[in-house]
Amino acid sequence: MTKSSNLTQDNRSSLDFTEESTPPQIRGVIFDMDGVITDTIEYHYQTWQQLADEEGIPFNREANEALRGLSRRDSLLKILGSRSCSEAKIQEMLDRKNRYYLEFIQNMNSDRLLPGVEKLLNELRAANIKTGIASASQNVHRVVERLGIGDRIDVITNVYNVNRPKPAPDVFVYAAEELGLLPKECLVFEDAESGVEAALAARMWVVGLGPGDRVGQAHIVLPNLQGVHWSDLLLAIQSLQG
Ligand code: G6P
Ligand code: MG
Repeated sequence: MTKSSNLTQDNRSSLDFTEESTPPQIRGVIFDMDGVITDTIEYHYQTWQQLADEEGIPFNREANEALRGLSRRDSLLKILGSRSCSEAKIQEMLDRKNRYYLEFIQNMNSDRLLPGVEKLLNELRAANIKTGIASASQNVHRVVERLGIGDRIDVITNVYNVNRPKPAPDVFVYAAEELGLLPKECLVFEDAESGVEAALAARMWVVGLGPGDRVGQAHIVLPNLQGVHWSDLLLAIQSLQG
């Protein structure tokens, strides 16, 4: 583990292996996408800012931080606050925001992968670990294709495949099912508070990426994936398993 001082052990008890003589192996890794695999958080910020400016609604980077992990619709509702809007107007704004976003991502390529992601994906392939993406984004397939990592991802899911968005566990449970794995055999990388909550509720191992006040509930907290190796992570998880 590159940042062993950042390991958090508060949630050790959240996974209960008492019925087993040995802890289960981790056989799959499930990534959130925005803010974990790619820095599209900036594109989301720019496009929400444009929409908010056009509508005369106050918005800034700080407000955008609170949108991490939320679906597009939940994000808009949060931005609107107590302002009342017809369903038709809401739909129009959602479509407009996505039009701006699609312009941003149309030319994106593997340069937009966050540091460490490609190496880690290659290590997971070499170690025979299954890989999935569980995102709140409806654009997840499009973005993965642009990033050129589809050959190293076994399953791509988003919250539209399930009933409840993050922080409900549904999208992670569904991804594990698609991978043919038990939740406790999966490790999740998340950058959003709601995503960490969702993965813990799914009873998976969770690595939070970002500041402790955002992802501190995760089993392990790291600033990002730069320099993170699968062998180190496994050792860190084993030490948490006791
Ligand atoms: C992710 C991001 C959010 C974004 C959401 C919906 O969860 O963290 O900031 O609003 O996906 O993305 P979409 O591509 O469907 O608009
Ligand atoms: Mg995210």
